[in-house]
Amino acid sequence: MEKFSTVNDFDYTQNEYIDLVYEIMQNRKRGEKPVAFIRTYGCQQNVADGERIKGMLEASGFIFNDKPDNADFILFNTCAVREHAEDRVFGNVGALKNLKAKYPNTLIALCGCMMEQKHIAERMYKSFPYVGLVFGTHALHQFPELLYKALSGSKRVYLRDNDDNLVHEGIPVKRDGSFKGWLPIMYGCNNFCTYCIVPYVRGRERSRKSSIILSKARDMISSGYKDITLLGQNVNSYGKNLKDSLSFAELIKEIDDIEGDYWLRFMTSHPKDCTRELIDVIAQSKHISKHLHLPFQSGSDRILKAMNRHYDRQKYLDIVNYAKSKIPDVSLTSDVIVGFPGETYEDFKQTLSLIKEVEYTSLFTFIYSPRVGTPAASMDDPVSDEEKGEWFKELLSVQEEIASKRCASMVGTTQKVLVESEKGKDNILNARTSGNIIVEAKGDKDLIGTFQNVRVTKAGNWILKGEFIKEDN
Ligand code: SAH
Ligand code: SF4
Ligand code: F3S
Repeated sequence: MEKFSTVNDFDYTQNEYIDLVYEIMQNRKRGEKPVAFIRTYGCQQNVADGERIKGMLEASGFIFNDKPDNADFILFNTCAVREHAEDRVFGNVGALKNLKAKYPNTLIALCGCMMEQKHIAERMYKSFPYVGLVFGTHALHQFPELLYKALSGSKRVYLRDNDDNLVHEGIPVKRDGSFKGWLPIMYGCNNFCTYCIVPYVRGRERSRKSSIILSKARDMISSGYKDITLLGQNVNSYGKNLKDSLSFAELIKEIDDIEGDYWLRFMTSHPKDCTRELIDVIAQSKHISKHLHLPFQSGSDRILKAMNRHYDRQKYLDIVNYAKSKIPDVSLTSDVIVGFPGETYEDFKQTLSLIKEVEYTSLFTFIYSPRVGTPAASMDDPVSDEEKGEWFKELLSVQEEIASKRCASMVGTTQKVLVESEKGKDNILNARTSGNIIVEAKGDKDLIGTFQNVRVTKAGNWILKGEFIKEDN
C-alpha cells in the first residue's frame, strides 16, 4: 500500500516509522493481528483526520474494531468546539482505567482539537497517567513517529502546538465509507469569530493545491464514490494563500467537469465570502447538489457584529434570495447559536424571524458555550442558562414547523436519492436527496450505494417516506 509519497524529506522518514511500528506490534499484539480502536468526535474535518490516522495504522499492519475491549491501541480524536464535546472525552477516557490495568500493554492515546488547548491537554495528561500518547492536530503527519516512540520507550509522549503552517500531502487514507467520502481542500481558519476555538486549535488557513484536489476527486469518482464532500472551515476563501490559485468557484467548476455519476457537496460556506458567481456555478452544474449550508449564527445585526462575522442580516438575505432565484428548490441549512453573551430576547426574536423568512430544510442549533481564550468568553453574559434553554426550545419548535411544512410539500414528487444504509428492520432502507433530506423506502439492500428514484408518499417532521420507482415502470 502507498505510504507517505510526496512533499518534503521529513515525510519520507515517517515511512520508516511505519515499518518500525509494524515490527514492534508483531510481538506486542494480543490477537492474530494488532487491533486499533479509534473514536472520533466533532466535525467532518476531524473525521477526515481520523481516516488519515487509520490509513497510517493500516500501513503499520493494524486492523480495526468498533469496541475498545480487545484493542492494542485506543485513540480518542477529540473536538473542542463546545464544553459538552469535551466532557464526553473526559468520561470515556476515565472509563478505560480498568482495561489498562488488565492489559498494561494496551496503548491509550489522545489527539485532535482538544489537545491543542494547552490547559486541557495538560489536565488530561495529569489526570490520566495511563494515557501514553498525546498529540495535537498540527502533529498528525508525525503520527507514525510519535506512535513508535510511545511504543518503544518507557516515557509518555506529548506533542502539541508545533504549527508549521504546511500542508502535508501523501499521508495514506483509509476511508470509512465506500461510496460517500470527504475530500479536504483546506485546513485551518483565519476568521476568529469571537465565540469560536477552531482558529486556535487548527491554525491558519492553508489550501491544498488544486492539482492534488482534482486528482483525488478523479480517483474517488473512478473508484465508485457517489457523494463527495469538499471540506474546509470556510471553503469560499479557498486558494487565498496560494500563488495563482483557482478560486473556490473555479475549483468546483473544474471538479464538476469530471465525467461520472456522482454528487458533489461542500462545507462550510461562510456567508461573508459567498459570491453570486458561486451560486451561478451551482445553478449551472451537473453534479453539485442543490444544497447550500450557509451558517448565519444570529439574525441580529448587533450580535453578528459582536461575533465578528463580517456580514449583516441584509447581506445574508441577499445571497439567500439570489440562491433561491437561481437554483429551483434549493435546500438551505444552517448553524445557529442561541445565548451569545449579551444577546437579549429582542435579538433572539430577530433570529426567529430570519429562520421563518429563509425556511431552512434543517438547522444545527447550539447553545453558546464559552471557550477559554476566545474574546466572547470574557464578555458580559447576564442571561441565565434556564432562560437560554427556554429560547432554545422556542427555536426548535419554530424550525420543526418549517421543516415539517417543507417535507409535506414534497409528498407526491419524485426525487433522485442515494441509498445509504439499512434502517434495521422490515427491509427499510435510508436514502438521501440531493438537498440532504432522508427518505425511507422499502427495498433490497443491494440498492445501497446506488442512485435511485423514489416517489414520496408521506412526510414526517424531518424525514420523508417513499417507494422506489422501478426503472422499467
Ligand atoms: N467554520 C464553520 C463552523 C465550524 S464550527 C462556519 O463558520 O460556519 C460549527 C458550528 O459550531 C458553528 O457554525 C457554530 O454554530 C457552532 N459553534 C462554534 N463555537 C461555538 C461555541 N463556542 N458555542 C456554541 N456553538 C459554537
Ligand atoms: Fe469558527 Fe468562524 Fe472559523 Fe467557522 S469561520 S471555524 S465559526 S472562527
Ligand atoms: Fe471540533 Fe475541531 Fe471540528 S474543535 S468542530 S473537531 S475543527
